[in-house]
Amino acid sequence: MTAIQGAARTGAKAQSRSASAADWTPTSWRGRPAQQMPVYPDAALLAGAEARLRRYPPLVFAGEARKLKAALAKVAAGDAFLLQGGDCAESFQDFTANTIRDTFRVLLQMAVVLTYGAGVPVVKVGRMAGQFAKPRSSNVEKMGDVELPSYRGDNVNGFEFTAESRLPDPERMVQAYNQSAATLNLLRAFAQGGYADLHEVNRWNLDFVRNSPASERYHDLAARLDETLNFMAACGLTSATTPQIAETDFFTSHEALLLPYEEALTRVDSTSGDWYDCSAHMLWIGDRTRQPDGAHVEFLRGVRNPLGFKAGPSLTADDFLRLTEALNPANEPGRIVIISRMGADKVGDKLPELLRAAKKEGRSIVWSCDPMHGNTVTAANGRKTRHFDAILSEVRAFFAAHRAEGTHPGGVHFEMTGQEVTECVGGATDITVDNLNERYETQCDPRLNASQALELAFLLAEQLKAERLSVARARAAT
Ligand code: PEP
Ligand code: CO
Repeated sequence: MTAIQGAARTGAKAQSRSASAADWTPTSWRGRPAQQMPVYPDAALLAGAEARLRRYPPLVFAGEARKLKAALAKVAAGDAFLLQGGDCAESFQDFTANTIRDTFRVLLQMAVVLTYGAGVPVVKVGRMAGQFAKPRSSNVEKMGDVELPSYRGDNVNGFEFTAESRLPDPERMVQAYNQSAATLNLLRAFAQGGYADLHEVNRWNLDFVRNSPASERYHDLAARLDETLNFMAACGLTSATTPQIAETDFFTSHEALLLPYEEALTRVDSTSGDWYDCSAHMLWIGDRTRQPDGAHVEFLRGVRNPLGFKAGPSLTADDFLRLTEALNPANEPGRIVIISRMGADKVGDKLPELLRAAKKEGRSIVWSCDPMHGNTVTAANGRKTRHFDAILSEVRAFFAAHRAEGTHPGGVHFEMTGQEVTECVGGATDITVDNLNERYETQCDPRLNASQALELAFLLAEQLKAERLSVARARAAT
């Protein structure tokens, strides 16, 4: 391409960008094909629920979303690491202080371990306080001879397998809003009110290591962390003197699937004059709804929150570039997280072409690995599950692809819970297919339990540390 052609192309891009930015409104998605959207039987009830949500206060403040974006810009530059995790689907039934607290606690424990391994700050983002809507591969579910509409998440319809419960009900959006508000309230209190004290988190980690069957393997890292904190305390850095030890930043995220809900919570920020989707700090587009001309891309391109989209094995390099251009035309660092979810056996083949395309075009990207959604299998007893080893192996292959391309593996994205459920097999406690029925509690995909999630964090920390040392050694040798 000549310089003149290049300039013409850039000019055309800039023109189409400003024209299309002017075209955007919170409702412009309604003119585009929308996948995975429920059809509400009563339009008046829907309009009523939307109108109420439009009047309700925003759940997050735009300034917080900007803070997350700045933190993610550091991740894109290799100066921080992203940890995103939580339920596949939050539920109305499992809504208790203990479930919120336990998931939050395990995320903190993982973050401390990863901070130690990566040697950089860890940006913590929950799949919490809004993760209710689910895309489904089939519109219907069959049990015996009965066929009913699929369950689409508690903010759409009910999990119970009856015709009445499976009918989309717009009032559920209001209940999801209220549950998100209460969840966020508790998360903010935990993050800022003393629960997140690094010394406490360290104590929980020591307990975990003491009780783990893989205790020996993780003991070293935990002991070194403990020593570091003791040393810092001896130097006068304690929770009483240092806010960074006593509290933490914690952000929320969910899949922006149910667009009437997202639209209703989209507001103009009075400090910047920009549009923000105030249902969460970060929103992402799922693998089934990322059509470049589709409604979900149209909606999210107009809000200024940090965004993600899932990159499954069917994503071509061309579509990947179209999507990053549509969602981040100004190439702002921290705006886009690509959540790769290829599957352990495909990531080595599929990810490198995306990494190369991004590098060639100079796109600023946070690369994150979701090792859950490409590794779902059905066990002999019919339960959906995931193998701990497949999950670990996808993360390792993700790191290897980045090493080979000279790009930065920015973070990880897990479906996990703070409870000791039995949904994924493997790990040090060696959950087998026979154990799955003991505590299979998810309403959607199988989650890592607290021990499995922490174990993964320890294994990743070892790897991050080894990579850091090998980069330092290579630098010293040149
Ligand atoms: C999810 O994150 O729960 C999900 C449905 O993922 P994906 O869009 O990658 O299938
Ligand atoms: Co899921």
